Formats: sequence, structure tokens, C-alpha cells
Amino acid sequence: MNIQSRPRLPRTRLSRRTFLLGLAATPLALSAGCATRQPDTVPVAVSDTTGRRPLPIPPLAESVVDASGVRHFALTAAAGTTEIIAGKSTPTWGYSGSVLGPTIRARRGETVAFTIDNALPETTTVHWHGVHVPARFDGGPHQSIAPGGRWEPSWTVNQPAATLWYHPHPHGSTEKHAYRGLAGMFLVDDDETDASTLPRVYGVDDIPLVVQDRRFTVDGSLDESDPTDVGLLGDTIVTNGIADAYLSVRTELVRLRILNGSGGRMYNLGFGGGEEFTMIGSDGGLLAEPVRATRIALSPGERTEIVVAVRPGTPMMLRAFPFDDRAGVARDEAAQYGLTDSFDVLELRPAADLERSAALPAVLAALPRPDASDVVARRRFDLQWFMINGERMDMNRIDFTPTVDTTEVWTVRNADNWPHNFHVHDTQFRILDIDGTPPPPVLAGWKDTVYVAPGSEVRLVLRFTEYTDPTYPYMFHCHLMLHEDQGMMGQFLVLAPGQEPAPVTMDMDMDMDTGMGASRPGAGGHGGH
Ligand code: C2O
Ligand code: CU
Ligand code: CU
Repeated sequence: MNIQSRPRLPRTRLSRRTFLLGLAATPLALSAGCATRQPDTVPVAVSDTTGRRPLPIPPLAESVVDASGVRHFALTAAAGTTEIIAGKSTPTWGYSGSVLGPTIRARRGETVAFTIDNALPETTTVHWHGVHVPARFDGGPHQSIAPGGRWEPSWTVNQPAATLWYHPHPHGSTEKHAYRGLAGMFLVDDDETDASTLPRVYGVDDIPLVVQDRRFTVDGSLDESDPTDVGLLGDTIVTNGIADAYLSVRTELVRLRILNGSGGRMYNLGFGGGEEFTMIGSDGGLLAEPVRATRIALSPGERTEIVVAVRPGTPMMLRAFPFDDRAGVARDEAAQYGLTDSFDVLELRPAADLERSAALPAVLAALPRPDASDVVARRRFDLQWFMINGERMDMNRIDFTPTVDTTEVWTVRNADNWPHNFHVHDTQFRILDIDGTPPPPVLAGWKDTVYVAPGSEVRLVLRFTEYTDPTYPYMFHCHLMLHEDQGMMGQFLVLAPGQEPAPVTMDMDMDMDTGMGASRPGAGGHGGH
């Protein structure tokens, strides 16, 4: 795609999508007469008369704690097939399963170690999104794992309880790898949160929910053709790997940890009957106190934690609604970015007899006020086309070098008419203001990804702590995956005071199509270990 001339897809695409929407509806009718296939990992039951199947809950990743207290996990990225739509078998990719991946769960203070094998036919990486992690274990484009290769990152978890996630980050192919199914949840626990009365029985009243959109070809394969300006937009909403799911609820309160795992689609989530819910957490942890809401918007990569009060025997539908303000996009452009679409996301089916839930705590977390009083560096990031500050990603270019344990203020401006968001690796930031106004309560907590509407400006306060590395950078980028693949990304090294960046020893050009090409010393990792 040429960045000089803005790619504009012909209007006829809309009628094609309308056609596909019609197709997507038919498998429900067909599924009644089809034998239901059991894919190897997603426990899918036979559809009921509504055509809905129970929401698959990703299994908790198995782990072994060794004599020195290190918790070991193993993941294998591999291809498989999944019954995303009832009665259809779709080739997919997954971690230790046919699609998505097991939920990693670890405690603050614990050292985790991973053995990650790549059984895919392509080079990939595993990035820990939202995780405070040493740069060489970040899993960005510098930590590629070739087919047959292995990667073994390890670090000590040092951040508050949060809903984080992991996904591939091979430069130039992130969108496709994630679209094919590679993504998983990463939950951090801590003592404070365990001592609270929040629902926290995994898979019972504490539910991970990966929300994605997919499109299918007539043979049931994932359709990777015709990306829009925001990437591959699907006409089928998939939750935890399947379309048309319902969740049986047995408790008065249910906590949903929702991830927008889509490459380019934004979701304006709420309930069909306008029911209120309580937001308790954002990307990097719990809010200071519960916030009542009827809608919550998530751009790609963002998470929210909400608690929903259900009524016995009364179903509720979690829906994606059109964006009232079109997410700040011009009226005649909103439809092509999917901002006017609406979808059912997940039906909640409460039992007639609900178990009692404890009341929510009035205070959730000790959240310090965002503090920019000791700022040592201010930086500006203009998002436009597939560039940040007029430059595309270059794995050999370090854009800047923050000093560890100092405070920075970043001003991120969307100088475009496209929707963009902004994600920073390694740290959780706080939003100082959006167009000069302090953030609303739902955006006032820890964040690692923030939506930046066309023409608007968001100021962030952030600190990089603990880890320094003169060789391996962290990334910042738009998390619309097509945009990041096209180069809307940059890199920074976190350095100790007075430390110099290591010289770049190999200087091979990045190949944008394959994501291959080594850059910083040892960065290629071809063949892994
Ligand atoms: Cu979720 Cu750099 O990524
Ligand atoms: Cu990330
Ligand atoms: Cu973007």
C-alpha cells in the first residue's frame, strides 16, 4: 500500500460486505441439520434452538513451580481447525490449542518463565501486552521465533492485578497472525485484589472475554482479503473463538474481563435493554472506585473489567452499538470503519436460582493521582497516515531514549481523519487530559492503549521503571494492527542515567512483507535457541 496516496477502497465494497452479512446469517439455519464437529481445544456443545453455543472459557495455562519458586509455562504456536461458526470447520492458529490460547495467571512478586515453541510455517513472536517486562523479553519484532524455533523469556511480575494479554508481534504480519487466532489472556493477581469482595472464580463469576471480528470465505476459511483503511473488518463477531455464544450465569454478579482482540474494529459495548453495569478496571488494573456506566468503548488492544448484576432467569444481551459520536470520525466516513455497525456479542443467561454474590467494594484500588510535577521530558507524537511524526517504523532506528525512573509527558495528536489509537510497551500510563479536559472516570485508571479521535490530542504521563537495556528497544504504536504493520510504530530504549545506546552492528533492511531481517545485535533470533 502506498502511503503517499491514501488508500481508498471503492464504495462497492459495502455492498459486498452486505452480501457477506447475509451469508454469515445462514450457517445458523444450516447448523440444525449438520453434525457438530468437535475441534480439538474449544469445548463446543451442540447449538440449542436459538443457534447459540456455550461460551468457551480458555483453560488456565498449566504451570509448574520449581524448587526456586519460578513458575514455568509452556506454549506452542501451531495451526489447527476450529468450529468458529457452528457446523463449519475453519483453519485457525492458536497457542497450545486450535485457536486463541490458555489464560496465563501469575501473582505479583512471582517469577515466571516460558518455553515458547513455534510450530507454525511462519516466523512469529509472542508479545506480553501491558506487561512490565525487560525489553529483551518483550516479544516485539526483535524477538522473532522462526518456524521450529524456541524462545524462553522470564521475568518477575511486578505490577498490580490486571487483565493483560499476549499476542504475536512479527513486524509486518501482526494483523494476520492475530486474525488467524493467536491471542490469549494474561491475568495478574495481587494480595489487595484477592482480599476484596470482587467476583474472582475463574470461569464461574470471573469470565475472560476476547471479542474479535472475522469474515469467512464460502469454504469456511478466514477471509484475509480486502482490508479497509482500518484493516480486516469482519461481519461476524467471535467471542472466545466462536460466533453466537451464550454464557450461563449462576451468580448474582458476574465479572467480565473484556479484551478488544480485533485488529481494526472498535466496539461501543452495552446491554440491549440499556441495563447499567459497573466498570471496575481498565487496561492496567482496577479503577480507584467502581463507575456506573451503560456504554464502554474499546479500541483494538484495550481492556475493560465490568461487573454485571443479572436477574434470575432474565437473559441479557451484550451488544456492540454504533458510536453515537462516530468516534470523532466524519459522518461520511464512519461506515467504512465499522463505526455505524451493531452486533450481538454475548448473551448472558442467568439461572432461575442465583447464588448470592458479595456486594462490590466501594474502594477498589489505591490509585495515585497522575503526577507530572517532576517531568523531565516532554515528547510529541503526531499520528498521520501510516506514520508517527512523519516516519515509518525502522527496526534500526531508535526514536528516543527515556531515562529509567523519570517522569515523561507525551502529547499524542491524531493529525488524520482516520481513527487511530496509541499503545506503549513496558509501562502503564495515566491520561492527563484529552483536548485539555481531564479524562472521564472510565479513562482515569491505568492504561496502556488509548483511543485518539481525529483532530484530538491526548496527554499521557508515564514512567519507565526498573529495566534498562542499551540494545533492545520497546515499541510505541497505533494498535490498529494494519496501521502498525504498515509502519505506524517507533522504538525507544530505556537507559540508566548516563548510559549510551549500544551500536547497531547489523544493518539489514526490514522487509515489510515478511517481517524478516535482523537489525539490532542478536535481534533476529532465526531458529531461536
Ligand atoms: Cu499489543 Cu505492540 O502491542
Ligand atoms: Cu504491547
Ligand atoms: Cu492507526
